Amino acid sequence: MTQAPETRRPRQRPADDGTQTGAGPAVGRPVDRVDGAAKTSGAVRYAAEHPHPRLAHGTLVHATIARGRITAVDTGAAEAADGVIAVLTHLNAPRMTPPRPVSMLDLSTLVPGTSVNYLGTDEVAWNGQPVAVVIAETLEAAQAAARLVEFRYRETPAVTDFAAAQDSAEPLPKSFIAPGDARKGDAEGALATAPVTVDRRYTTPAQNHNAIEPHATTAVWDGDRLTVHDSSQSLDWTRRHLARCFGVPPSGIRVLAEHVGGGFGGKGSVWAGTLLTVLAARATGRAVRMALTRESVYRTVGGRTPTVQRVALGAGRDGTLTTLVHTGVSRTGRAGGTTEPFSSQSRHLYATPNLLVGHKAATLDVVPNTFMRAPGEAVGSFAVESAMDELAVELGMDPVELRMRNEPDRDPLGGKPFSRRDLRGAYALGAERFGWARRDAEPRSMRDGRFLVGWGVATAFHMPARFPADVSVRLRSDGSVLLRCAFHEVGVGASTAQSQIVADALGVPVSAVTVEHGDTDFRTGPMAGGSGQTASVAAAVLAACEDVKRSVLRLARRDAASPLHRHRFRDVRAGRGRLFPAGAPDGGETYAAILTRAGVPEVEGRTGADSRAGRALGQARFMTGMLRDRRRWVRAATGAHFCEVRVDSDTGETRVTRWLGVFDVGRVINAKTARSQLRGGIIMGIGAALSEETLVDPRTGRVMNPGLGEYQIPVHADIPPIGIEYLDEPDPTTPLGLLGLGEVGITGVAAAVANAVHHATGVRVRDLPLTPDRLL
Ligand code: MOS
Repeated sequence: MTQAPETRRPRQRPADDGTQTGAGPAVGRPVDRVDGAAKTSGAVRYAAEHPHPRLAHGTLVHATIARGRITAVDTGAAEAADGVIAVLTHLNAPRMTPPRPVSMLDLSTLVPGTSVNYLGTDEVAWNGQPVAVVIAETLEAAQAAARLVEFRYRETPAVTDFAAAQDSAEPLPKSFIAPGDARKGDAEGALATAPVTVDRRYTTPAQNHNAIEPHATTAVWDGDRLTVHDSSQSLDWTRRHLARCFGVPPSGIRVLAEHVGGGFGGKGSVWAGTLLTVLAARATGRAVRMALTRESVYRTVGGRTPTVQRVALGAGRDGTLTTLVHTGVSRTGRAGGTTEPFSSQSRHLYATPNLLVGHKAATLDVVPNTFMRAPGEAVGSFAVESAMDELAVELGMDPVELRMRNEPDRDPLGGKPFSRRDLRGAYALGAERFGWARRDAEPRSMRDGRFLVGWGVATAFHMPARFPADVSVRLRSDGSVLLRCAFHEVGVGASTAQSQIVADALGVPVSAVTVEHGDTDFRTGPMAGGSGQTASVAAAVLAACEDVKRSVLRLARRDAASPLHRHRFRDVRAGRGRLFPAGAPDGGETYAAILTRAGVPEVEGRTGADSRAGRALGQARFMTGMLRDRRRWVRAATGAHFCEVRVDSDTGETRVTRWLGVFDVGRVINAKTARSQLRGGIIMGIGAALSEETLVDPRTGRVMNPGLGEYQIPVHADIPPIGIEYLDEPDPTTPLGLLGLGEVGITGVAAAVANAVHHATGVRVRDLPLTPDRLL
């Protein structure tokens, strides 16, 4: 009964057809990670693993008040400690140029993470703000000395209690991240007259980033040139922000992140650890490494805001929605921070004549919160998808049927078409594979010994972003290909996916393609975020590969000895390492033969301009295209989650025992890594559903559980087999039909768990996490 449906299906075809010859599509296959062996054997290096002669080690000292000023500093004991090289505070640190004020209206101001001018001010903006860096010959010496640094403060009143700050919340300005409030018809009026209604309050707690690799930086100055290894999912932003802070040209800064041990948005901005490592290296003239402790990550890197949300639904007795209200309050920091546009997906989910979505944010003196996997939808979907389940119960209607009845043909708010959307197909496939028809709607109707068994569903929804990206593709006379781009490998198999795309575009085997990434010396890549990296890079890869093929054909067509002599590009195809006339796959010539005979060692295709003006033009074109697309379509990845839980009737402990997610994510590039990515989202969602919660002392604003000992994330034994299916139909509006699937997996998960728990127990939990005390 707990077997995942996927495990009953025939095994995927092995990766050795097509991909090994360049004859058939590599895209879509479950190709093994091209870097798998290097990763699992420890051969790849992470940001804190780069050796350097005379490497010094840094560690942070954190403020212990929520708001105020430093009145006295005593670094004497720390400076005298064994192995200490320097103790930097606002009294002696070299000055950095402060970040521009953080604004939700300007994405680039979110790059610094906060507006604090670290070690350039005596002001404290949150409990945990870094106020000193200790640099020593060893990590242990730095950490021991850090405990000897003493600060005295004058405190000023601080807002640290989210619950108490609700009334001070202000509407969010419309921005790229938060689309702003919206209304259609008279949502509240329709609620008053609807035959069946639910009107509920849901809450979700603050959550923190817990990537396997805590944030780490290694920085080396050589005069005014700077090399930084950084656990970043945003290399270009990091380089530009460092250039601004340290007053050196970006061209003199090289930021590298060959591999990143997990990044879920927490490594998308430039946080104190990175800045202060670079500052420490400049101040000491040494190469400095700073691998943050887990506690320092919690204190200096934003996480997910808590939310209080209201969802009100009205429907006719047949289940047809007449109104949908989704409003509420999240948090932001006085020193900046993004927010969670938790109500934004509710504009696009269900057909309804009346709709009201709104969002306010309260400003607190806490570490500014930041992007965390599906910011907005991850927690907004908990509220709206729980409410849909509550409405189904009120109506006495199956929750899948209720969703299908209200599936919109066009965007409910603006009337735009969806670029593609087949939630009906996803639910139908999921219901069949999960055995949904066997569900008895009655709560507490299914038991397994002392366990109450429940089944729940919820919809996943996420709108992937796109970013500008440029690449270089070099085809060499031995038939091998090198793709270079400063994109990021945060653990998802990004270079494997791009290898497959290159292989198909040029008609070469995957094994002929080498990918180099994670280095700002390469052409500028996108942020690894917003579920946008793969599609953003793919668009550039396709263009560059077209260039390469054109250049190769140019060599052949002017060569009377070539079977491609005088052939036109549009009549030529690529495959099995060759160009050939359309319809004659055994004709034509191999790339190697063409290049070798022409005496050309390699042909390069690349996108993007080399001049500053050219780059600005490219950015402008990109933005124009993005805005045009937004006016034309709603582009979203969607999915249907099916969840089974067993709740211990004695202890109230909830175990997730079966999961099936069916997704509509456009074209899937790699069947193996895509499933893995979607599973990862579901696992993170199960953590949010059952255990994750950052505990902030409301009196002091201090995070009280800054580490994995007390902040509970799922371990392997907590996770059942997770079945993943996808519809695998290309989106007609994107290059290759890709949408992006990094974040959609987590959305809807907490609601599916809570809905299953209600089915198991009859208890409706509207406050996450769903800990046993809430069920007893
Ligand atoms: Mo994601 S929150 O854009 O890494």
